[in-house]
Amino acid sequence: MDDEGKISTKYDPHFTDSVIAATGRYANPRLKQAMPALLRHLHDFAREVDLTVAEWIAGVEMINEAGRMSTSKRNETQLICDILGLESLVDEITSKRLSRASDNDNAATPSAVLGPFYRADAPTLANGSSIISASAWDTPWYREAMPLLACISGQVLSASTRKPIPNALVDVWLAGPNGLYEQQDPDQPDMNLRGRFRTNQDGRYEMYAVRPTAYPIPFDGPAGRLLNLLDRHPYRPAHIHFIVTADGYGTLITQVFDGEDKYTSDDAVFAVKKELLVKFRERKGDERAKWELTYDFLLREV
Ligand code: BEZ
Ligand code: FE
Repeated sequence: MDDEGKISTKYDPHFTDSVIAATGRYANPRLKQAMPALLRHLHDFAREVDLTVAEWIAGVEMINEAGRMSTSKRNETQLICDILGLESLVDEITSKRLSRASDNDNAATPSAVLGPFYRADAPTLANGSSIISASAWDTPWYREAMPLLACISGQVLSASTRKPIPNALVDVWLAGPNGLYEQQDPDQPDMNLRGRFRTNQDGRYEMYAVRPTAYPIPFDGPAGRLLNLLDRHPYRPAHIHFIVTADGYGTLITQVFDGEDKYTSDDAVFAVKKELLVKFRERKGDERAKWELTYDFLLREV
């Protein structure tokens, strides 16, 4: 960048075009379409900030370290994308693409990022069951959970007709009151706070769980160091993840956020949308729950 803030013209003006032109005739069609833009933005970025070799190597090292740290239980590269807002942006682009295909889905529940803690094959449970594993009840973990016990229920509906959708699958997962998902936490039983529920004839689902708690995303690796260098915090607002599927409807991957949480306006991964803010109310006359949440999911037809 020069003193007037303009991108400098001191670098070879033909360089980027020559790299783009190296793409062969039989290149993958999507890459052939997308790579010129990627190369232009990447090269313009390097020119705009006068990127040095030492800085570029530091970036390469960060990506290498993220790769070395990533396992089936931890995806550090995804985490770096998340704190840069890339997963949220790609989620919005994907969901807008799908919605253009249909006219009547304006009311559909918005999506939100999947995040790195989803596990397939959570136990399938009957409506009205608890996603707190039975073996969690004897652990110190459960004492922390007591004041947060919550009943969560609602309907799955067609976004266009508002008709209930029976037999929809509601897959749910959330972190415990200590801010950890079960796979991060040796004190939680396997699959604790995860479950899958089928809606009944009225499209209804119901479960017992805990009211969610804000938590920091893992910050002991390169993503955390980057947050620190950017003078940012690692917290996500209290939220519950859902994947809702039903025959004839698009899959909804989303999260609902506790509207009382201070981080709803400052999410480390930029996933909050106003339609996804919810209110937990005090629940009376139910020894299994102190809180309740009613939330309906509106699915887009395909
Ligand atoms: C999550 O909500 O589980 C999550 C999302 C993005 C990054 C880290 C965690
Ligand atoms: Fe989460």
